[in-house]
Amino acid sequence: MKKAAIYKIGKWNPEREIIKIAAEAIAKGKLVAFPTETVYGLGANALDESAVRGIFSAKGRPCDNPLIVHVANVESAEKIAHTTPKALRLMERFWPGPLTLVMKAKDIVPKATRGGLETVAVRMPAHPVALALIEKSGVPIAAPSANTSGRPSPTDAGVVYDDLGCCIDVILDAGPTDVGVESTVVDVTQEKVVLLRPGGLPVEAIEEFGEEVMLPDEFEAGRAEDVMRKSPGTRYRHYAPRCRVVLWRDGDDWPVEEAEAVGYMGIKIPPLDISEKVILFDSLEHYARGLFMAMRYLEKKGVKVIVADYPAKEGLGLAIRDRLYRASSDRVKYL
Ligand code: TXA
Ligand code: MG
Repeated sequence: MKKAAIYKIGKWNPEREIIKIAAEAIAKGKLVAFPTETVYGLGANALDESAVRGIFSAKGRPCDNPLIVHVANVESAEKIAHTTPKALRLMERFWPGPLTLVMKAKDIVPKATRGGLETVAVRMPAHPVALALIEKSGVPIAAPSANTSGRPSPTDAGVVYDDLGCCIDVILDAGPTDVGVESTVVDVTQEKVVLLRPGGLPVEAIEEFGEEVMLPDEFEAGRAEDVMRKSPGTRYRHYAPRCRVVLWRDGDDWPVEEAEAVGYMGIKIPPLDISEKVILFDSLEHYARGLFMAMRYLEKKGVKVIVADYPAKEGLGLAIRDRLYRASSDRVKYL
């Protein structure tokens, strides 16, 4: 039975009445889905342990997988985390935006929010609705992506309703999100910046800013073990539609035998005529933006297999590869 109330809200000029309703829900420990520039988040008061537990149960998320805490300014980040000069420099340059910083947590952050770790992940989203909600609530908001655990992330409010309409209170609908893949997560507790999850902010942008970024083996060679220990969320099969996802690189043999019930998504034009179930993007930006919707669309069309164009590592390609790799069933292939 669905129960979530959906409110349409203007992205650039969020209606105050609606923000007030959502902020009151947050204050009461309820769950509010809201848009960010990356994907929709499922928010609750990050400092309220029982509200945070509600997020885990609504999503069916393993409780050792910590949440990202969303703030509306740097001062709020300083209340929940021990910031360092390096962290402050990155905030100054890239916030608001799709960069999440993992820092040593202050005691005020409940263990449930940080999955039992000593660190906390913090970001300031670049979306007027998200910022208005956080400001009006007056508390930091913990928010994972607003999908059922393991499913493709939600880039519009309808998908949030499909997955979680039964179990949450409010959904703020400001239309589709821009970036389409989640934020880049980096650990800034060490001397060098360590990439934990590639995302909407390309690693190259951080490097151009003068910070060396360590890429765990996973992103160099495609191996998961290293990063799995550091960022619990990367341990689970993720982002996956109900059908199989098979990776294909331009120049490789076509990877599936089936002629029927195959869907395709990517930038490269596929070498075969595989019916109308083809979604083509004209850039990495558009591929990132449409990736999760394309998976859900092809799944609804009833395809058995989605062949996905596996792009090169540059720019947003690294994040797209990561999401595809985790969604795919034949992971061994590109080790
Ligand atoms: O763009 C985004 O980041 C979206 C929007 C809603 O802001 N949020 C999001 O949250 O993607 P979620 O929960 O789906 O992914 C959070 C990732 C997980 O891989 C988690 O393991 C990692 O961040 N993470 C969170 N806290 C961490 C910590 N203290 N140490 C290491 N990794 C952490
Ligand atoms: Mg997620």
